[in-house]
Amino acid sequence: MSEYIISGGRPLVGHVRVDGAKNSVLPILCACLLCDGGIITLSNCPRITDVQYTLEILNLFGCETSFADGQIRVNSENARFCGIPCDLVGKMRSAALFLGAAAGRFHQAEQCRPGGCELGSRPIDLHLSAFAKMGLSVSDTGMEVKCSGCPHGADIFLRYPSVGATENIMLAACRGSGTVTVTNAAREPEIEDLQNFINAMGGNIRGAGSGIIIIEGVEKLHGVDYNIIGDRIEAATYLAAAIATDGEITVSGVCPSHLTAVTDLIVNSGGSVCRKHDSITASRGGQFILSPGKVETSPYPGFPTDAQSLIMAMLLCAAGTTEIHEGVFDDRLRVSYEFIKMGADITVSGRTAYVHGTERLYGARVFAGDLRSGAALVIAAMSARGESVIKNISHIERGYNNFETKLRGLGGNIVKLKD
Ligand code: UD1
Repeated sequence: MSEYIISGGRPLVGHVRVDGAKNSVLPILCACLLCDGGIITLSNCPRITDVQYTLEILNLFGCETSFADGQIRVNSENARFCGIPCDLVGKMRSAALFLGAAAGRFHQAEQCRPGGCELGSRPIDLHLSAFAKMGLSVSDTGMEVKCSGCPHGADIFLRYPSVGATENIMLAACRGSGTVTVTNAAREPEIEDLQNFINAMGGNIRGAGSGIIIIEGVEKLHGVDYNIIGDRIEAATYLAAAIATDGEITVSGVCPSHLTAVTDLIVNSGGSVCRKHDSITASRGGQFILSPGKVETSPYPGFPTDAQSLIMAMLLCAAGTTEIHEGVFDDRLRVSYEFIKMGADITVSGRTAYVHGTERLYGARVFAGDLRSGAALVIAAMSARGESVIKNISHIERGYNNFETKLRGLGGNIVKLKD
């Protein structure tokens, strides 16, 4: 197991450019399966392990792929139907999106059933009931999911604006027959990116970014050059690190309006934020960090669950008590116990963590339990006195490209020890 050794206590200062959004590139790569002919070139792609696994799945389907200098090329002309084995589905939740993509392209899809994960239970009932409404025959044995049939028009109401279910519907419906209308759709910027990509291939989707998305099926999709949007959660990571370490970081390559909930929280905690066209600068601006009171995660444009642990790391030493309520996943506060090993004062009750600001954190041996909480531990370790060891960093590498190099560029003292 590789680990990070971090010597904390120095302010992180400077400029960092974020990579393309993990949560955009993964569904967009699934959508590549829907293209019948022509080369797709995706720019601004992060070299992270989840992208690597997704390319492996595309290769299983017979797509030709290559990845160099942040550019992924995919040719799906000779793709053929195949089932996706458990080891790949188990590595990456977003593999469930190949259900919609394979149903759209081959009118059949088959894969091992994704289980729960480190964030709690991760059902796909909304995905499957939407497929059934679109006329697909769906079988779910608990071990394996199979869908077959040509997706047709339907009116689908999602009882919860699930990101994955919204994307899966878009993937299946864009090559189907008829019009699918999704009400209470997820509104995340990555959904809009998926719509823009499918439309650039010749698809016909409108409404993404609002709660109602209308997808008209088309017969063919063609190759295209497309640029992935910047990763708002990677950006939030560096902004939180700037505040936690009393430094000043400018993050570029991201759309500031995608981060309004995060930057508002930083300002409400006494931090200083300067937003420009495609960059954001954050610092304490000479102020003490104060608790913002209550933070509650919710679907976009609410406060993102993926930034919850990052912001918790930022507030561990804030004056006062912050009540952090996790409103999206049922088991996403476990990182609190790792922060406590570093001297944090946190009590957890159900889905709520009460973070009582402490004067100083100290280095400790801690364990990254999932992607974002791993990054949050890195932030805490950067602000702590002394040396920390972060174990199990393969989780972090699922979503951050060149993390330690970027942090060293900001003055961080971080070394990766390979197993
Ligand atoms: C996506 C993101 C993930 C982010 C999450 C919420 C990707 C690859 N991942 O995950 O980083 O944290 O959105 O912003 O884009 N649910 C159901 N039934 C379903 C589907 C979901 O009950 O069929 C519930 C889930 O258990 C969870 C909530 O809905 O409690 C949110 O899940 P969802 O929006 O679907 O997240 P993902 O697409 O899995």
